[in-house]
Amino acid sequence: MHKQSSLNHRRDEEVQTPADADPYSPKAVKPKSLPKPVHYLLKEQRWLFVLVGMLIASTLFILGPNLAKRDIRKTIGGSEKFVSKGVEKSGVQKTITVHRLVAGVRRQPLRIVVTGGAGFVGSHLVDRLLERGDHVIVIDNFFTGRKENVMHHFKNPRFELIRHDVVEPILLEVDQIYHLACPASPVHYKFNPVKTIKTNVMGTLNMLGLAKRIGARFLLTSTSEVYGDPLQHPQTETYWGNVNPIGVRSCYDEGKRTAETLTMDYHRGANVEVRIARIFNTYGPRMCIDDGRVVSNFVAQALRKEPLTVYGDGKQTRSFQYVSDLVEGLIRLMESNHVGPFNLGNPGEFTMLELAEVVKETIDSNAKIEFKENTADDPHKRKPDITKAKDLLKWEPKISLREGLPLMVEDFHKRIF
Ligand SMILES: NC(=O)c1ccc[n+]([C@@H]2O[C@H](COP(=O)([O-])OP(=O)(O)OC[C@H]3O[C@@H](n4cnc5c(N)ncnc54)[C@H](O)[C@@H]3O)[C@@H](O)[C@H]2O)c1
Repeated sequence: MHKQSSLNHRRDEEVQTPADADPYSPKAVKPKSLPKPVHYLLKEQRWLFVLVGMLIASTLFILGPNLAKRDIRKTIGGSEKFVSKGVEKSGVQKTITVHRLVAGVRRQPLRIVVTGGAGFVGSHLVDRLLERGDHVIVIDNFFTGRKENVMHHFKNPRFELIRHDVVEPILLEVDQIYHLACPASPVHYKFNPVKTIKTNVMGTLNMLGLAKRIGARFLLTSTSEVYGDPLQHPQTETYWGNVNPIGVRSCYDEGKRTAETLTMDYHRGANVEVRIARIFNTYGPRMCIDDGRVVSNFVAQALRKEPLTVYGDGKQTRSFQYVSDLVEGLIRLMESNHVGPFNLGNPGEFTMLELAEVVKETIDSNAKIEFKENTADDPHKRKPDITKAKDLLKWEPKISLREGLPLMVEDFHKRIF
């Protein structure tokens, strides 16, 4: 009996915990607790941490873009490398500007259509938009535009070129539309006046229709010609103009006035976000050489050693804006919250004879001047009042005629000879 109870006792012992069963197994390790103050902060002050985190994030977000704008000069063995997108281009040593955000906050690239993007102003605008990292689709029928103006972007995966006439509708998915398509010089817009007014009316309707359908922002490049032969000087945006509706220039002047009307009607009636720029005489590289515009005429004639043609008495005035100033104004307007219209031009006023003198100083001091009869409806005075653009867009032209002209002469020299 006693033997049996001692056996039971041993069995009872055998069902105890394995640790007890094996006296040499290591002790279970206790989890280490954080130091008390840290533990307290984490547990009791966690909202404080969340707030501090939010504060740091918003500070970086605000300061990011300013900190990040850095000029990165990358020159590898005398050749430049476009590291982004893996496009590599050797050749002339050049400086590229790369905008990078330190905080990792990056502006989303936009998809932008530029109609008339193979033309003079359009191609400079395309350069700027691609340079800042956007995707650009150029639509052009090459009436006055040239592939050569945008050829340097052909290898860029963010660039597309479509041969298309804006008189026909087109479907695309974009965020912004810069509508420039329209011949701008008298020689070209008078060549086929019906086509010019069709481009202004139907082309603008089609692009506004596209903007409405896809919710894109639309910018119209109108012109100082909407003021006609102005009775107010200088011209402010509130001036309604003095335009001959049946003259030889009306296809352009009245065409642009109608384009402005359509733009405002789509804005008021269909809530399309629109912008209107009234551009004054602009000059620069890539202008058509024989387009009859006074600056290109004078420069080409002086380079070819021909007399400079002055129409009328040469006392009519114009203002001349360098193309990079205009492009800056167009981009500022598109990015602003203002519909416009805005005058974009250089208020420096020159008579045709003064302009001829500047061209002579720059190219050939022996050049002769030849007077010819003036063309119909040629405005006597033209000078923008740019107070509105200065106040609301913080924009004003920076490049004077004497600074800009040599840059254009260099380009014309290469193309003429
Ligand atoms: N350059 C200036 O001094 C000036 C002044 C006032 C207004 N603007 C306006 O700025 C815009 C650009 O002018 P620019 O000087 O570059 O002229 P531009 O003639 O060099 O460019 C116009 C572009 O539009 C294209 N185009 C014309 N009709 C078209 C159509 N139906 N479909 C598709 N493409 C078409 C042409 O091929 C060309 O590439 C124009 O709308 C013009 O009215 C220019």
